[in-house]
Amino acid sequence: WSDPGFSDAVIRWQKQHGRHTLPWQNTRDAYRIWLSEIMLQQTQVAAVIPYYQRFLARFPDVTALAAAQLEEVMAHWSGLGYYSRARNLHRCAQQVVAQHGGVFPSEPALLAALPGIGRSTAAAISAFAYGTRAAILDGNVKRVFCRIFGIDGFPGAKPVEDKLWQRAIALLPQRDVEAYTQGLMDLGATICTRSSPSCAACPLSQRCVALATDRVKQLPMRKPK
Ligand code: ADE
Repeated sequence: WSDPGFSDAVIRWQKQHGRHTLPWQNTRDAYRIWLSEIMLQQTQVAAVIPYYQRFLARFPDVTALAAAQLEEVMAHWSGLGYYSRARNLHRCAQQVVAQHGGVFPSEPALLAALPGIGRSTAAAISAFAYGTRAAILDGNVKRVFCRIFGIDGFPGAKPVEDKLWQRAIALLPQRDVEAYTQGLMDLGATICTRSSPSCAACPLSQRCVALATDRVKQLPMRKPK
């Protein structure tokens, strides 16, 4: 299951074709990375960018955000949707200040204990801010893995999800985890899209079970009714 060729291909593709100039890239500031990952959980990159920039201008660090009134935080979130993210964001900032001295922890398990940070977001923050070898598995990455490995079943179902996490962990590279993590996200967002994947441009097409068996359209399987 471990396969260095897999992460090598993703890392090489990321360096050549991935996104490198998003406003939350090229920083190791865990606050900025955390803020971007929460905004990006249910919202597309293009919609996030102006919110991210306005938010950072008003709340430049975790201490400023923790000290703000919730009302003002909500006003800066207004229009992004999924408002529980903003309430959790504020609570999370207060806990980072109260429990971690204003420094985001580097350990994924500690990050995942904070409000609004799930297992995959914790891994992404830890990888981007601290270079930690931790596996992500968001909706886009689930789709990529279901196709590449020909995994049947609804990826939201517990046994399928467990299998996907095992794959995600086994495939982690020994180094360059930041490029690998960003590469998986970018592949899912730009190449291995839900309804019109660009298999001809995919660095993993030669190892893709779905492509080889003509099941790209069928995978990942939909939620059973
Ligand atoms: N979606 C979630 N995290 C992302 C990131 N770091 N870059 C681009 N899209 C994302």
